[in-house]
Amino acid sequence: MIPSIEWTLDNKVKMIDQTLLPYKLEFLEFDDFRAVANSIKVMNIRGAPAIGVAAAMGMALATIEYKELVKDKFLIKMEEAADVIRSTRPTASNLFWAINRILKIIKEFPDNPSNISDLVIEEVKIMAQEDINVNKNIGKNGASLLKDGDVVLTHCNAGSLATVQYGTALAPIRAAIEEGKNISVIADETRPRLQGARLTAYELQYDKIPVKVISDTSSGLLMMLGKVDKVIVGTDRVTSDAVFNKIGTYLVALAAKDNNIPFYVAAPSSTLSLYETIKDVTIEQRDSNEVCNILGKVQIVPEGVECLNYAFDITPFKLVTGFITEDGVFSPGELLKKYKV
Ligand code: MRU
Repeated sequence: MIPSIEWTLDNKVKMIDQTLLPYKLEFLEFDDFRAVANSIKVMNIRGAPAIGVAAAMGMALATIEYKELVKDKFLIKMEEAADVIRSTRPTASNLFWAINRILKIIKEFPDNPSNISDLVIEEVKIMAQEDINVNKNIGKNGASLLKDGDVVLTHCNAGSLATVQYGTALAPIRAAIEEGKNISVIADETRPRLQGARLTAYELQYDKIPVKVISDTSSGLLMMLGKVDKVIVGTDRVTSDAVFNKIGTYLVALAAKDNNIPFYVAAPSSTLSLYETIKDVTIEQRDSNEVCNILGKVQIVPEGVECLNYAFDITPFKLVTGFITEDGVFSPGELLKKYKV
């Protein structure tokens, strides 16, 4: 897959418009951080690592806009820009992690702001490349868990499109295939935004990786019938007690446990937030119309009936077989030992 987001030579943020997939592959270009913030909110770009890079690139655009201000004013304006970008989506750690990384550079910069843009632009390019490197390592580490012939079930899209490139949950599948193993994928459609049906299926087909899409309600049956060997999902945030990921992940984890199928979470360390617990996290609730209507087109509930639209759910550590990070594969206990220093 081509990168989902990049910094262009003429200092713009270019991203695939994921709301149009799989029908059209089109790109958006922004030179205003407010527009980047909006693109995160309306999910032109989505997936925790991609949201992080988009947020950092939005901050870089803000430095270009404000760099002629005196330092005190510049810092105030940059905090305001950070607030605008932070307020877009509350659950993915990467958004906050990326903004803090840029703010730290800005606050520690000793000189006049007019010189800072170049430094921040270099940093966001590094972050984009780091994301790809991290994902490749997740791929290598996770591939060791996959056997020739395995069928892997995944939920939502934690692939190339959810990152800059290569993906997190789909990285072990890509790497195992690169190693010569035969791997195929079952993708949950992932109501209501259909990231599995629209995006996972699109990028796997694009890369000629065998994929079948199922309705979300089918995954338990397929596990019981022995048609799934492993489950690998991504995550938006890992606290010291649970995994936050796309709504429906918890039910997949329960079904995996009941059927003795390994349930792995692919998690770059930028997604770990191990000093938090479940109660610290805000689960995003999106517009109920996303549930009442299919892709905003066909209403599927009687007029006047209310819908609830929680975007993420919570999978307790006891349901997780292992975490695949850029550093290795860890049980929940080992993860805490390694990263909660
Ligand atoms: O609402 P989305 O599409 O941003 O949700 C994405 C997910 O839940 C992914 O599984 C998660 O961000 C991991 S992406 C590598």
